[in-house]
Amino acid sequence: MINNIIFTRDVPDALREKLAVFDSEDIFVLMDEHSREFCATCFDFLTLPEKHWITLPAGESHKSLDSVATIWRVLSEQGARRKSVLVNIGGGVITDLGGFAASCFKRGMHCLNIPTTLLAQVDASVGGKTGFDFMGLKNEIGTFSIPDGVIIDNRFLATLPKRQLLSGLAEMLKHALLADEEHLAEIMQADLDEVSGEEFFHLIRRSVAIKAAIVQSDPKEKGLRKALNFGHTVGHAIESVAIAKGMEIYHGDAVAYGMIAELYLSVRKMQFDERHYEAIRKFIRERYPIYVPVAVPDKLYELMLHDKKNERTGVNFTLLRRPGEFEIDNYCGREEIVEALKQI
Ligand SMILES: NC(=O)c1ccc[n+]([C@@H]2O[C@H](COP(=O)([O-])OP(=O)(O)OC[C@H]3O[C@@H](n4cnc5c(N)ncnc54)[C@H](O)[C@@H]3O)[C@@H](O)[C@H]2O)c1
Ligand SMILES: [Zn+2]
Repeated sequence: MINNIIFTRDVPDALREKLAVFDSEDIFVLMDEHSREFCATCFDFLTLPEKHWITLPAGESHKSLDSVATIWRVLSEQGARRKSVLVNIGGGVITDLGGFAASCFKRGMHCLNIPTTLLAQVDASVGGKTGFDFMGLKNEIGTFSIPDGVIIDNRFLATLPKRQLLSGLAEMLKHALLADEEHLAEIMQADLDEVSGEEFFHLIRRSVAIKAAIVQSDPKEKGLRKALNFGHTVGHAIESVAIAKGMEIYHGDAVAYGMIAELYLSVRKMQFDERHYEAIRKFIRERYPIYVPVAVPDKLYELMLHDKKNERTGVNFTLLRRPGEFEIDNYCGREEIVEALKQI
């Protein structure tokens, strides 16, 4: 899988090479309005029919069945075939939607990801999970489908708002917690003002490598890959409540606060070092927007129970003994979880 991921400072060149095997009438590009605004000039060299450029409105609320249908409609009307390719250029919403649409169109057409947000570069665009939100539930419908290639250049991040950078940083923090103490320290000291630079590119590569190694060992999330859900059991519940309330909260914000709760459970049940936990909690609380909807523990608990990773006996968590040492499949009960939510 890692062989399919290209880190480059010359995206046109890498893409030209990937597209060399396709006829131009078989190439389709998916963007959202912002990735089109900020990143499209990099793709001026592509000479495609105008109708092969699909642009969706931006934002999580458009990660919907309607958007998938829009993509399928264009592909169908323009005569896309199984041997056509969809190039997804944008954040995680675009790579999730485009990846899903491609994985089902004609039972699976080719697909390339060019992630343009930090979150998509270190997480969403790699690993092959695709999908969209349905009936108010995050990623309720989706597939596992590894893209044919991922092209990553961190200079796209120069136009990304700080809050979006923080959202991606949360996933990097998660990868570091699953990897080792040294990388965790690097991430906690990372300078977000230098996000397009060489040093930060190095951190992105490391973060992707951590995820890729875990995915490689368990592509369909039967076991070890569940570790990548660290922070997400609580995080997804927070995100769902926030979406229902019409609040603006980003995926990584929710995951960051979810990690506080799940690290607290780790302190309680796995003897994760309490001072280390406090330092990470402080790091998150100082950087991320303050208000999160945790004042509704019953609703959050119900949402966690509904989460597809859970069984009826309780809520399933990955917990940490220390950075780099984790254990999947820990079931926690309502009281423990409510206490952990209070720490947020
Ligand atoms: N498939 C997976 O494994 C996986 C993993 C993590 C997250 N996700 C999903 O990813 C989504 C979140 O991804 P995201 O944070 O990238 O959100 P996003 O795709 O909504 O992008 C965030 C915002 O940045 C804009 N944008 C994109 N590139 C830009 C650029 N270069 N400059 C300026 N603005 C730019 C987008 O238009 C959008 O407004 C969620 O739906 C989440 O569920 C999927
Ligand atoms: Zn995530």
